[in-house]
Amino acid sequence: MSDHHPPLRSYGRLKTRTIKPRQAALLETLLPGLRPPAGPFDPRALMPGAAEVWLEIGFGGGEHMAAQAARHPGALIIGAEPFQNGVASALRHIDEAQLTNVRVLDGDARELMANLPDASLERIFVLFPDPWPKARHNKRRIVQAETVAEFARLLKPGGALRFASDVAHYVDWALAKIGANPAFRWTADQAADWRVPPSDHITTRYEEKRLGDCAPVFLDFVRSAP
Ligand SMILES: C[S@@+](CC[C@H](N)C(=O)[O-])C[C@H]1O[C@@H](n2cnc3c(N)ncnc32)[C@H](O)[C@@H]1O
Repeated sequence: MSDHHPPLRSYGRLKTRTIKPRQAALLETLLPGLRPPAGPFDPRALMPGAAEVWLEIGFGGGEHMAAQAARHPGALIIGAEPFQNGVASALRHIDEAQLTNVRVLDGDARELMANLPDASLERIFVLFPDPWPKARHNKRRIVQAETVAEFARLLKPGGALRFASDVAHYVDWALAKIGANPAFRWTADQAADWRVPPSDHITTRYEEKRLGDCAPVFLDFVRSAP
């Protein structure tokens, strides 16, 4: 028997509401040109001259991804999100702002990461990931030792990983899983460093809903030199 199993599903429903006609049209017209290649690829080839390449895992409605892309036109931002309504909403933001520095995988970020070369990213965002609060579901959380090892492989030395959550158990979990990997150094010196949104943060839709059991916590890590 093979030792390789597909990863457990880390996301909820793929589609909820009917997608509005304009957004449905963007799924047909805009998305195909934004999808990264299906096999291994060099992200810099997607935007020659890109100063940096960033990855956002589970971008939800895409508000953060689009706003960061608008603020940082020299950075290529690749987002992965399997939830179709979210992808459609992100396409609307990309279209309205005429962003040329965003690429979108309508699928599992773990597949995308597996196709990226070592040390190819400057930043990774994991913002308000699905909490999977029941103990028997914790193994579905996107932050696992294996994904943290992928983050370490993909980030350049000095690269940054941001995790945010308003679920206290997930915050502790992320600190333990990411902290267990010697490639990462947590940058916090004082409580304000995790309690106050970082100055470059853009509030996400899920964050605004305040569905968790604690105030939003922001954990910034730096990828140390190997
Ligand atoms: C709770 S929502 C938060 C969305 C957004 N980051 C925000 O803060 O508004 C988590 C999102 O992560 C997505 N997700 C879960 N597993 C994923 C995976 N393996 N790859 C990419 N996205 C994933 C889900 O579909 C969901 O939209």
